[in-house]
Amino acid sequence: MKPTSYENILVAFEEGVKTITINRPTKLNALNIATIKELHHAFKKAEKDPDTKVIIVTGSGEKAFVAGADISEFADFSVSQGEQLAAQGQALLFDFVAYSSTPIIAAVNGFALGGGLELAMAAHFRIASDNAKMGLPEVSLGVIPGYGGTQRLPQLVGKGHALELIMTAGMIDAQQALQIGLVNHVTTQEELLPLARKLADKIKKNSSVAIAAAIEAVNAGYEDGENGFDAEITAFGKCFGTADFVEGTQAFLEKRKPNFPGK
Ligand code: COA
Repeated sequence: MKPTSYENILVAFEEGVKTITINRPTKLNALNIATIKELHHAFKKAEKDPDTKVIIVTGSGEKAFVAGADISEFADFSVSQGEQLAAQGQALLFDFVAYSSTPIIAAVNGFALGGGLELAMAAHFRIASDNAKMGLPEVSLGVIPGYGGTQRLPQLVGKGHALELIMTAGMIDAQQALQIGLVNHVTTQEELLPLARKLADKIKKNSSVAIAAAIEAVNAGYEDGENGFDAEITAFGKCFGTADFVEGTQAFLEKRKPNFPGK
């Protein structure tokens, strides 16, 4: 696939794993609209690429994953512009990530605030370095989380922890985030990407079509008007028609490792 050049992100590919790095370190990787559009493009391209089995998203530098939406860009917005900002961001990036059929791991390497934490929460799961700080400080700016934070934080940590974080506009450290289930693992900054790679390597050995079906079924449980159990039954049934299922079951019966065609 033709490489694309971006201004605000870096994309690297190695052995089935694409790493997307938000790269505005002087602004603590704050998400301006241009960065959101580039991320949309990169995630879309990665999702369409059959060789990309797992995506890791992280921030450049040692200080921040993403310190939030770029405050300088929306400080003078009107009501309708504010609404449009949230709608556009959710569609282009945050929902796009959450509904990606390719697994996305957020490697939180420092501050993950506001839109930064919302991006990490949209990913399928999160790991963090021990210097990470997470929070939704929007109410300290007179606004609320607008990139899915009021929905995804309570889904991940429960309503009480979510409302405490949102209402205090406070930050929690990596250990506290681990304790409430916001991140799955905490490690040193040096070990963060190696750990993400290790998890990605485990994931990529499995059937990518089955993983996509599992993501879809899990997401269905959080959808209005959808029954997650029904979605699971349909997705389960569909797996029986895939080449990956034939290979996975045959390999088990023949006592060998599967070599999934990804179809
Ligand atoms: N939007 C725009 N710019 C941001 C930003 C954001 N969300 N977060 C950080 N920056 C910029 C700063 O303005 C500063 O730019 P400058 O050097 O041109 O002045 C640069 O990044 C470094 O940040 P600074 O505040 O000097 O670093 P710090 O170590 O003193 O503080 C934070 C770190 C994360 C505590 C602080 O930057 C902060 O509170 N950021 C905003 C967090 C936030 O409210 N996010 C939610 C937005 S909805």
